[in-house]
Amino acid sequence: MKLLIINGPNINLLGLREPAIYGSQNYSALCTLVKKTCAELDIECELFQSNHEGAIVDKIQDAYGVFDGIVINPAAYTHTSIAILDALKAVSIPTVEIHISDVSKREDFRQISYVSKVAVKTFMGLGIEGYKHAIEYLNEFLNK
Ligand code: DQA
Repeated sequence: MKLLIINGPNINLLGLREPAIYGSQNYSALCTLVKKTCAELDIECELFQSNHEGAIVDKIQDAYGVFDGIVINPAAYTHTSIAILDALKAVSIPTVEIHISDVSKREDFRQISYVSKVAVKTFMGLGIEGYKHAIEYLNEFLNK
């Protein structure tokens, strides 16, 4: 099984960025957690982070026929990007959405998620541990 883990804008600044909301662990710690989780489940994974919407769309398009599942934290693009939603719909790769913070308890402008319209499941508010849950869920979903 091959999973693509996509992180959107400013996730590269984890640790530095609003630690009261996103925690004190950095992006490198997130990558280590993802790689460890995948290794334990015998999953091949690729991590991709970009601050650019088009680059994320390109990566999703390139995932067609290559990856079995996608775990995505679209970050701020969650709330704005129809292009990312359309790319996920186009490739039809089972996708789990993840947010480090509990967006349901935050500002009004974070209450819409376009990716939720296609995601098989959404995890939020679990800190970076949420990525572990997302990968485990997708692994079970794809093995069903
Ligand atoms: C986020 C929540 C988004 O609203 C925000 O723009 C982010 C991170 C999260 O992981 O909690 O950049 O997706």
